[in-house]
Amino acid sequence: MIITIDGPAAAGKGTLAGAIAQKYKYAYFDTGMVYRAVGLLMILNGKDLSDEAAAIEYASNLTFPQMMELSKNPEFRSAKGGQAASIVSAIKDVRAKLLAMQQNFALNPVFADGTKANGVVYDGRDTGTVVCPNAELKLFITATPEVRAQRRFAEFQQKGSNLTYEEVLADIKARDERDSNRSTAPLKPADDAIIVDTSDLTIAEVFAHVDEIIKKRLK
Ligand code: C5P
Repeated sequence: MIITIDGPAAAGKGTLAGAIAQKYKYAYFDTGMVYRAVGLLMILNGKDLSDEAAAIEYASNLTFPQMMELSKNPEFRSAKGGQAASIVSAIKDVRAKLLAMQQNFALNPVFADGTKANGVVYDGRDTGTVVCPNAELKLFITATPEVRAQRRFAEFQQKGSNLTYEEVLADIKARDERDSNRSTAPLKPADDAIIVDTSDLTIAEVFAHVDEIIKKRLK
C-alpha cells in the first residue's frame, strides 16, 4: 500500500509518517528533502535564490545518495534551509526534474539495509496530488499556524537556535503563503484525501486516529 501525507509546515506529518512506517514496516520518503537539498546546494555554492537556471541545474543532477549526504549538514533542517527549499520548490522545472526520483521510490521500496518494505509512506505538499495520485490512502494533516509555530519553536530551541516564537510564526506564515499560492502543485488536499486537524490532538491521539483508518483500508 502507498500512503501519502500532505500538509503545511510543522503540522506533524513527519512524526506521523515515521510512526506509520515503523508499525507497518513501510519505507518512508520525506519529499521535502529533495527541495531542501536543492536549496542547500544554492546556499553552499553562493547562488542567489532567484537564480532559476542554477536551481534547475542542481535539481536535474540530484541523486538520492547526494541528498542523503546533504541532509547531514546542520543547515539542511534550519529555518534558512526551509526558506531556501520553499523558494526553489516554487520553480516549475525544479519540481519537474525532481518528480521521477520521488516516484521511483515506490517501485521497489526497500530500507537502508536493502531489505524489502511492505509499502511506502510519503510526506510532503503534493504527494497525494502529483507524486502518487493513485495512492491507496491519502491524508492531509493540518493545524493552526500558531500551534505549528509553537511546535517548530520548541524543536529549534532544543537545537540551541535563538529564533523567537514571533520569527518562527512569521516564517511559517510566509511558507504557507508561498506553498499555497504557487502556480505549480500548490499545497491543497487531494479530492480524495482525509483531512486531520491536529491543533488540539497529541501525537498519540493523531496516530491512534490514523491507525484505525489504515487498519480499515488494509482489510
Ligand atoms: O516539509 P519540509 O518543511 O521539509 O519542506 C520544505 C519545503 O519544500 C516546503 O516549505 C515546501 O515549499 C517544499 N515542498 C514542496 N513539495 C513537497 C515537499 C516540500 O513544495 N512535496
